[in-house]
Amino acid sequence: MLLKELEKFPQEIKSFMRIASTIAGKLGVRIYLVGGIVRDLIIKRKSFDYDIVVEGDGIEFTQLIADFLRVNFIKHQTFGTATVYYKNYKIDVATCRKEYYSCWGALPKVTPSSLRDDLYRRDFTINAMAIGLNKDDYGELLDFYNGYNDLKNGLIRVLHDRSFLDDPTRIFRAIRFEKRFGFRIEGRTLKLIKQALEEEAIKFVDEQRIRDEIVLILKEDYPPKYIRRIDELIGFSFIDKDLKLDKQDYMLFRRIHRAIKFFYQRFLKYHKLQEWLIYLLGITIKLSKEKVERFCSNFDFRRGEKKILTEIFIEKRTIHSLKRKVKIRKIISVLKPMSFEAIVFFYAYFNNKRLNKNILYFLNNLEKIKINVRGSDLEAINLKPAKIYGKILEELVYVKLEKNLLTKEEELEEAKKIFKRLIRAHSN
Ligand code: CTP
Repeated sequence: MLLKELEKFPQEIKSFMRIASTIAGKLGVRIYLVGGIVRDLIIKRKSFDYDIVVEGDGIEFTQLIADFLRVNFIKHQTFGTATVYYKNYKIDVATCRKEYYSCWGALPKVTPSSLRDDLYRRDFTINAMAIGLNKDDYGELLDFYNGYNDLKNGLIRVLHDRSFLDDPTRIFRAIRFEKRFGFRIEGRTLKLIKQALEEEAIKFVDEQRIRDEIVLILKEDYPPKYIRRIDELIGFSFIDKDLKLDKQDYMLFRRIHRAIKFFYQRFLKYHKLQEWLIYLLGITIKLSKEKVERFCSNFDFRRGEKKILTEIFIEKRTIHSLKRKVKIRKIISVLKPMSFEAIVFFYAYFNNKRLNKNILYFLNNLEKIKINVRGSDLEAINLKPAKIYGKILEELVYVKLEKNLLTKEEELEEAKKIFKRLIRAHSN
């Protein structure tokens, strides 16, 4: 079958593929477009990752293209893969390979091979199709494992029975594709998932690989439905043996979803939220701080992510005070040190009228909280000692809000008054 959709690729990609095709012909290797891009092309979904495989030496082929186009590329000699950067696109090139798994969950041993073998080692039939990019098969769909029909029938199906044992992270991938596309995990595949889980296959996988899958899942459009499916099929004992979700938790996930949407509309046009972390907070808040610390270390979360996930336990105590009517300076002093992720989380978590009013007040006034006066301005008017500048500027934030200061001059006048007050208080 010839895929007309190839014509819909961006112009730069089309010309890249034509050039790649010519170079492959001259070098005497065969090249194919593979994986998610083929699937997405058929279902007309936007896709950004271009994966090419080469029957032959992938690195040599990439070197020739990069030389011809005068662009950069990075090679990963041990895997026989390379990445080309062309215009605004990233194109991954790999040597067709066969994989052997020496033990469960470990990374496979790899040997060069044919397209058919390369596709056979993949996760699901819908991801195991290719498009020829050679003179004699340009634009032709190569579908050895019936992926096209599964895609049309909405089925997630493995290529062979050992798939989940070879790579148990595929259990999470099955859920991701099932929910993303509104597909169904085909009967035998579901049985194989259950068997792999019974054999505790997930325990044999590097935690970091599971973390990557969880993050990808929580980055999908509506994570609550993915969380429910993980709960149904796998459970959450891979995070902590006693972790179980209940009805209240699902209500929280829905509130988180609404809160994120609301905050983006109202305030966060210029802030990028790590939405996935807010959902993860919704899961880990059920554990103790010590358990979450252990989870973050075992799964090797980044320092900033770990900070948000663990500091929530202390912040949960301080934010309680905002459930009452409080002074402006209290609202600021409690919320200012918090991440936006934590603030949005608490908005959904407590779902408390007064607290949420205080949060909204804080965010509405966020621009005003930024003061124009800097330490250098205080130095310029000769205020001494410099070590109290921090205190002056902190106090200035509150005064700015209380007195509704508008200009930098007004701020500077107030700064002088604060300075005098602080010096007086110090000498008394
Ligand atoms: N793959 C696999 N087993 C995995 C991960 C990936 O077989 N555990 C294969 C699949 O053929 C997949 C391809 O490698 O299509 C590329 O992987 P990735 O970029 O993670 O998947 P996509 O299918 O492109 O998914 P997405 O749309 O989420 O980017």
